[in-house]
Amino acid sequence: MNTILADMTNRIDPELMTLAGRIIRSGGLVAFPTETVYGLGGDALDPDASRRIYTAKGRPSDNPLIVHIADMGALEKIVSDIPSAARLLADAFWPGPLTMVLSKSPAVPLETTGGLNTVAVRMPSHPAALELIRKSGGYIAAPSANTSGRPSPTEAKHVQADLDGKIDMIIDGGPVGIGIESTIIDLTEDVPLVLRPGFISLEMLQSVLGEVRMDPGLHSEDPAFRPKAPGMKYRHYAPKASLTIVEGSEAAVRAKIEDLARQAEESGGLAGIIATDEDASVYAHGIVRSAGTRSDEITISQRLFGILREFDDLHVSVIYSEAFDTPQLGAAIMNRLIKAAGHQIIQV
Ligand code: TXA
Ligand code: MG
Repeated sequence: MNTILADMTNRIDPELMTLAGRIIRSGGLVAFPTETVYGLGGDALDPDASRRIYTAKGRPSDNPLIVHIADMGALEKIVSDIPSAARLLADAFWPGPLTMVLSKSPAVPLETTGGLNTVAVRMPSHPAALELIRKSGGYIAAPSANTSGRPSPTEAKHVQADLDGKIDMIIDGGPVGIGIESTIIDLTEDVPLVLRPGFISLEMLQSVLGEVRMDPGLHSEDPAFRPKAPGMKYRHYAPKASLTIVEGSEAAVRAKIEDLARQAEESGGLAGIIATDEDASVYAHGIVRSAGTRSDEITISQRLFGILREFDDLHVSVIYSEAFDTPQLGAAIMNRLIKAAGHQIIQV
């Protein structure tokens, strides 16, 4: 299959956007930018389109897709009942990086929800995403546009690397703004539950709803505590080289990573180091990439997945990362990093 690359980095191209909408309406797949990461879109109400998404990604079919909408009217068609909490959250955070899990209506095929009776819904804020949804009939099922198991794509070239030749079109909207996937909140429980941390933090959700909890299965290595979002149980975002996080005081972390990178070099390997603008220049060994500055934490979430992909391309033998316990995004960033590291953390 020839994958069309539609350049919309400077402006939305109305003709190409109409073509993209036509592709989705006829059952095809289009990757597109959102404010979080690139999505791989197909018609959410067409079971065949959902099957194609799973095939293109190599994704297990029990892992449900998020349905993207562009207006509140669309919510009524795909959800059986809209609780007041959903309206409050939509008022506060939509369009934006928040996904809500609600009871699904019969309009949504089980192929889209991985067999579940609930549906995850999000109204993205990226103008190209909203325009594509409108041109496509209003309901786009879209997981992140990566091959299953690889880091989520934050640039069109990441999508190309994984899906070129497997999908109909890629809309290039330039690098995304947030860089990690949306926060997922489950509103079908008695107390709303965060199934995946993201840009909309627990505190922001609590300020609107009152009591909200984190899914206890999120960071547990105990198999009795499985995460409730089926996708969170997989070892996502896995770079090819083994990744270890080093946590502790800034000086001790630097000394430890420097020592580990030197050891890697001495044994014929090459270390990739994930640092920050504040200290990237202090490392004398390994290939150092700055994730951004601690004073502007969104720069860190924006770059993290791209750095993991770059280290794959550079064939480093091992990766060491500083920890990023920043105020708003820290929980979301560390959730992705801990999963990428398969829970390997050294405390210093
Ligand atoms: O930011 C995002 O959310 C991006 C962009 C493209 O919108 N999308 C995204 O989709 O990250 P994906 O498929 O990579 O992750 C969706 C997550 C998975 O962990 C999945 O298991 C969970 O959402 N999920 C989807 N439907 C669910 C449901 N009904 N109940 C529980 N978890 C659900
Ligand atoms: Mg994903």
